[in-house]
Parts: sequence; C-alpha cells; structure tokens
Amino acid sequence: MKKYTSISSIQEFLVKEKRRGKTVGFVPTMGFLHEGHLTLAQQARRENDIVVMSIFVNPLQFGPNEDFESYPRNPERDAELARSAGVDVLFLPEADEMYSGSSIKMHVTERTQVLCGSKREGHFDGVVTVVSKLFNIVGPDNAYFGLKDAQQVAVIEGLVNDLNFPVNIVRVPTVREDDGLAKSSRNVYLSDSERIEAPVLNKSLKDAERLIREGEADPGRIISYIQNRISAETSGIIDYIEIYSYPELTPIDQLQGEFIIALAVKFNKARLIDNIIIKAAQEEIHHV
Ligand code: PAJ
Repeated sequence: MKKYTSISSIQEFLVKEKRRGKTVGFVPTMGFLHEGHLTLAQQARRENDIVVMSIFVNPLQFGPNEDFESYPRNPERDAELARSAGVDVLFLPEADEMYSGSSIKMHVTERTQVLCGSKREGHFDGVVTVVSKLFNIVGPDNAYFGLKDAQQVAVIEGLVNDLNFPVNIVRVPTVREDDGLAKSSRNVYLSDSERIEAPVLNKSLKDAERLIREGEADPGRIISYIQNRISAETSGIIDYIEIYSYPELTPIDQLQGEFIIALAVKFNKARLIDNIIIKAAQEEIHHV
C-alpha cells in the first residue's frame, strides 16, 4: 500500500495509472476506521482496479463548539486496517496542504435546511469543499459514501450533478453492530450504560417501519411514536426526528414514494445519528 501526504505526488501517480486504463475507486474518510469505512473500501476493491482512501479530519466541517480537536485519531492502526481491506493508496494530507489558498468559498443551497444541516451551520459547506478538492486530486471513477450519513449522500449527489463532476456516487448501506447500533467513530464516547441504551435508536426506526407496513401513513404519528420510545428507553436528548422525501429532503404529508426517517440524539459526550430509507411502491414497502 502506498502512502501520500502531498497533493502533487498522489496526483502524479494516479494520472499515470489512469493513462494506463486503470479505474479508480475512492473512499473519503476522517479516519479512526471501523467496519463501516472498511465495508466501503471492500466494495471499492471489488469494483475498481485501484482503491484510494483519504484520511483527513477536515477542520472546515466542524463548528466552533464541535469536536474537531478531540475527534479520535489513530493513523497507525488505520493504515493497517486500510491495507487489510484492500486499499492500494492512502492519502493523508495535513490541513496546510489541503487549505493553502482562501479565494473560493462553497455554499450549499439545497438539502441542507433540515436535519444535521440546520443544526450544524456551515457543516455541509465544509463537506462539499473538501470533497470537491478530493475529487479533483484523486479523479475517481467511483466514489463510495455510506447511507449512515444519508443527508451527506444527498448533498454530494447534488454537488456532483450541479458541478458536473465525472464521478459515479455509490450509496453503501449502513453497517451496524449485532444489536443494531450504527457503527460510528463517535461510539467510543458512549458510557457503558449509554452503549446499552443506544440500540433503541435503530429499534425504534425498525418498529416505525413495521407500523408503516401495517398501514400507518401519517408522518406526525410516526415521529411521536419514535419520540416516545427514545424518551422512555434512553437517557439521550432528542436533537431531531424528521421525515422527508429522499434524496430531495423536502417535507411530505403522506408516507408515500421514497422517504427517509432520520434522527439525532445527544448523549453525554456523543451525538448519534441514524436513519431508515423506505421505498413505498403502492401496496408494497421495502428497504432500499
Ligand atoms: P467519516 O465520518 O469518517 O465517514 C467516511 C465514510 O464512511 C462516509 O461516507 C460515511 O457515511 C461512511 N460510514 C461511516 N459509518 C458508516 C456505517 N456505520 N455504515 C456505512 N458507512 C459508514 O463522512 C465523513 O467522514 C466526512 O464527512 C467526509 C465525507 C470524509 C468529508 O470530510
């Protein structure tokens, strides 16, 4: 596995490989890798000649009161895990290398007024800035994003469409612990008792889906149901529980078509997100 920290040297290497006809799959991450990230890399391995992973804790996407400084980091362990998942090229730039100029600011105007976008001001502006730069540096044919961050997938799809990036965005389903908790680098912040409660987030989404299958079509009643479950069964404080069309993220009156139920819950030191995307085709409702 090759490691690069400089933009010009990784670009030089990848341009040569692409001239030789190699396809490139790209997995952008902020490191502290877990099975979620590795599943993205393994899928990229199966579908491309060369797999590139970036590890960069992007300061631009953290708010002033968020966890940029304390975000968990472990580059040595990450390199080992990336290698074992089949990554060929690891890109580990420093912040100075990524942000040497400041003449351009990107701002997302759609799909960000709701969910995490409304709670984390400027977050998705930081995400599209770094992802645009990484796409230009790596020039991937396919880029892999996890549906655990479903709003991020929706925003990136909007970015690629609006700015005509010649890259195919691959949506990868959420990877979970055995008890349903979505894998996340931030799960290490949970106390023992919070870790026991945390699977209720996913359980309540799955039970809500069952209610929808049984005929419930009112978004408000589904939201109340999830709210009650989480309040009764966890010590977490609900940040939001919302339902929108997906990937447009516009409000819906009836639970029809393709929609997302998304939630964020704050525990003592960890803010956890989870979601379920449901595709309702007339009588039939199934996962995507
Ligand atoms: P990070 O949180 O490190 O996540 C990197 C990728 O892994 C994202 O596409 C995320 O959705 C995916 N991922 C994380 N947990 C997952 C899980 N349990 N199942 C499936 N996929 C999972 O997302 C970011 O970094 C950053 O915003 C980034 C895109 C790298 C831009 O800085």
